[in-house]
Amino acid sequence: MHLCDAHHNGRALYTACVTAELTAGYYYDMDIVRSRVRTMQSALPENMHLLYSLKANPAPPLLTLLAQERCGADVSSGAELLLALRSGFASETICFVGPGKSSAELTLAVERQIGAVAVESASELHMLRHIATTRRCPTTAIVRINPTYEVRGVRMAMGGRTTQFGLERDEALHCMHDAIHRQSPLQVCGIHIYVGTRIASATDAAWNVGQVIAQARQFGQTGAICTKVDVGGGLGIPYYEDEHECAFESFAEAVQEHVRAYHATGLPPCLFYLESGRYIIGPAGCFFARVQHVAMDGDLQQVEVAATPALHGLSAGSFLAKNRHFLGAGLHRDGWKRGKLPTAVSYRLHGQRLPWPTRVTAPRLAIGDYLVFLNSGAYGPTTSAVWRALEGFPAEWAGSNGCIHMLSPQMTWRTLAKGQQLVTGYA
Ligand SMILES: Cc1ncc(COP(=O)(O)O)c(C=O)c1O
Repeated sequence: MHLCDAHHNGRALYTACVTAELTAGYYYDMDIVRSRVRTMQSALPENMHLLYSLKANPAPPLLTLLAQERCGADVSSGAELLLALRSGFASETICFVGPGKSSAELTLAVERQIGAVAVESASELHMLRHIATTRRCPTTAIVRINPTYEVRGVRMAMGGRTTQFGLERDEALHCMHDAIHRQSPLQVCGIHIYVGTRIASATDAAWNVGQVIAQARQFGQTGAICTKVDVGGGLGIPYYEDEHECAFESFAEAVQEHVRAYHATGLPPCLFYLESGRYIIGPAGCFFARVQHVAMDGDLQQVEVAATPALHGLSAGSFLAKNRHFLGAGLHRDGWKRGKLPTAVSYRLHGQRLPWPTRVTAPRLAIGDYLVFLNSGAYGPTTSAVWRALEGFPAEWAGSNGCIHMLSPQMTWRTLAKGQQLVTGYA
């Protein structure tokens, strides 16, 4: 199912945007989200739970839908944890992953008895144990390992020698054995390896998962407890004309084999987690910006839009190559428009006309249409300035003569979360 096939939604979106005089926005198609999740869940092994990575997009209506579809949640901040809980994800299906967790964030995780906290360092493990012990709360930790083995197919690496994520293999194993002998409400009972993202090849993605499962098997065979294993994810979707989507069926088939082989060893039953953000939400969403000016320059369409790249980090980000064509479309009164015209985009800032960082393929557009950047449901708002990690925006103050005044209050993640409406009617 493609976003641009639902013309009734396109027409309704166009009318809503024109009525509200919107210059730019994000749109998510809930039917596509639901269908992608169901396809993924039905192809995965029974004991592999699909976790939605909130960093891809924490919009509450999406979260509510995904919780109702029985996804678990992969959260990487206190804000994401609160949003996941508020949106209906069951505590035991939430994993708190990622570096730099504060004591307050770990306390929230302990008190809400979430499924697992993936610790990134020995000091984080120590802090978590202290919190669990003083609160007398049973807590489950898994240990993130920074792998040294060969990792395949990642476009953005988040594992391997050069990254800061996780513990060395032997240190992780030591932490797991050490925990067995301690009297503590904190159990260390599994591992987490996330090697990177934008993996387009199903074979490479399955290879990476196979390596994690092999690591868990080795650890289990030394007597370490491995009952929860987070195998990472990072499945890729296309952003440019020459890219393709990771073939989920083939990926899941190969993963089934790895899981079967694990259980054939006779080790205790293990629950596996697959983390995915981009793959679930990306193709279900888009960014759109109103067209202010159009001209043809030979075969090249030149379009000026009423938005800046700060609103769409995906096409402004450094990891995407310049001078390639981002997948685009159009939106007009009859719904979605498709086409493959090479299009150079510009925008106005401080009175200057500036080029958008990448070109787009789009249909012939007219003033008042919207230019659509496809596959932008994931890391659209969250790689754009204001929404990055839900940090918000700092307050502004002015001072004179010993008096200071607040010009605008800080927009915190709490304010941002409050500003999002919980719409539950989609599930
Ligand atoms: C630890 C971890 N898990 C999951 C994800 C989500 O990856 P993706 O959205 O590519 O599936 C990320 C992305 O950076 C991550 O760092």
